[in-house]
Formats: sequence, C-alpha cells, structure tokens
Amino acid sequence: MTGMSGELSVLWSLLRGQRRRGPLAERLESFYAPQARDYDRFRDRLLHGRAELLERLALKPGDSVVELGAGTGRNLEFLGERLRGLRSVVLVDLCPSLLRVARERARNWPNVRIVEADAARFRTDDPVDRVYFCYTLTMMPSWKRAIDNALQMLRPGGRIGVADFHLPDPDSLSGKFWRRWFAHDGVHLGASHVAYLEAKTVPLYSREMRGSVPYLPGLRMPYYLYVGRKRGPAQPVPQ
Ligand SMILES: C[S@@+](CC[C@H](N)C(=O)[O-])C[C@H]1O[C@@H](n2cnc3c(N)ncnc32)[C@H](O)[C@@H]1O
Repeated sequence: MTGMSGELSVLWSLLRGQRRRGPLAERLESFYAPQARDYDRFRDRLLHGRAELLERLALKPGDSVVELGAGTGRNLEFLGERLRGLRSVVLVDLCPSLLRVARERARNWPNVRIVEADAARFRTDDPVDRVYFCYTLTMMPSWKRAIDNALQMLRPGGRIGVADFHLPDPDSLSGKFWRRWFAHDGVHLGASHVAYLEAKTVPLYSREMRGSVPYLPGLRMPYYLYVGRKRGPAQPVPQ
C-alpha cells in the first residue's frame, strides 16, 4: 500500500492505538503489521534527529554496530556510504512485520544481520563498538534493563547512542497532553532516560530539541539525542 491509502492505514493504526494487554511481541505485531509498508514515510516526519545521532556515534571503518529496536532498518539509509565499511551491523527487533521490511532493505548487504529478539535480552557473541536505540526506549517497559544489556555488549570505550521523545516538564498541561497522546500508541514518556544514561556512561553529547508532528501544525514535540562512552574497567586504587 502506498500514497493516500497507506497514509490512512498508518493514521488508523495510530488512532486505534496499541493493545494494553498480552505479551509485548504480540502487542507490537498487531500494532505495526497494518502500517509496516508505510511506516517509513510517516515516521520520517515524526522521528527527528536519527541521521544526526548516527553522525554523533563517530562510526569508523571496521566497527561492529548493533541497533536495538531497529524496526524496518530505516537507519541503514542514514548510514549512507559508511555502511559499506562497517564490519557488521545487527538489527534487532521483536516485530516480524517490520523486520520483513528490514530484511528486504538489507538483502544486498552481507555485513547486515537481522535478528528477531527482545532488546533487553539479545547479546552478541563478542563485544561491539557501538550500540544505539532510536525511538525505542520509550516503547520498552524494561528500558533500564535494555540500557544495561546494551552496555554489557559494548567493549570498554565503545559508544552508546539514544534518540527519543522527551518530556522536560511532565506535570505541565502540555506534558500531560503528550503523555496521554503517546501512551495510546504504547509510547511511555516521562521516564528519566537521560539521567540514567548519564549515571551509567561518560557523557559525550547530550542535547534536547523540538520537532514537528504530522497533522498537528504549530505543535513541536521535544526529543533528545545522547551519546555516551562505556566506562573502562575499574582502575586499581593506588596504595
Ligand atoms: C518507533 S519504532 C523505531 C524503529 C527504528 N529504530 C527507527 O528509527 O525507525 C520502535 C521499535 O522498537 C521496537 N521494540 C519495542 N520494544 C522492543 C523490545 N523490547 N525489543 C526489541 N524491539 C522492540 C518496535 O517493534 C519498533 O520497531
């Protein structure tokens, strides 16, 4: 489905919202399956800062990279020419319909692997150079576990990156509006992701911004970008 009918099916899924009960993988699949083909066109107007996050991760040729909650693999395209030089890219998601689109997108890239798994549990065999989440932590009930898991996968000195929606003032009128609006679609705002990331990593870049929302002219949704470095092993205390 493309064009206006695709746009309408995305809008209909968003208006219907995400189921509140049942296993997470099933809830994600029933929410995303009807919009999988048209997901990218709509989300490109809503999920801001993804290309900048990838810039800020300072990827180098030979790096191994993991995206947790990769959806359709749209971020492969923001990687552009850098993708060719990467040793490996693993795209992890729990939603089969979105991963089907990702598989199609990655079919000519032997260095890309698609994995259906929970971001809070998936592990690589060897430590990796970069792990990132794009608009995914707010959809994860166990987001702290997912961050801890990402840090476990990283080599010391490796970088973790996050782009996501953000509520600077959750108890204000606009904060309450956004919280209810997004919760309907399974996106839970207001959690202190940045504070947790700052406590767990060496902050390299942290910035809050605002971006447009499709069909809501004049409204600007806050989001943040964060990049941190994994701390090295504890140094022995000098005697
Ligand atoms: C808003 S989409 C973002 C997709 C992609 N990162 C992007 O930038 O286009 C959020 C994604 O997180 C996935 N997701 C949510 N919870 C997850 C979990 N616990 N493990 C793996 N993926 C998860 C959803 O299936 C969905 O594909």
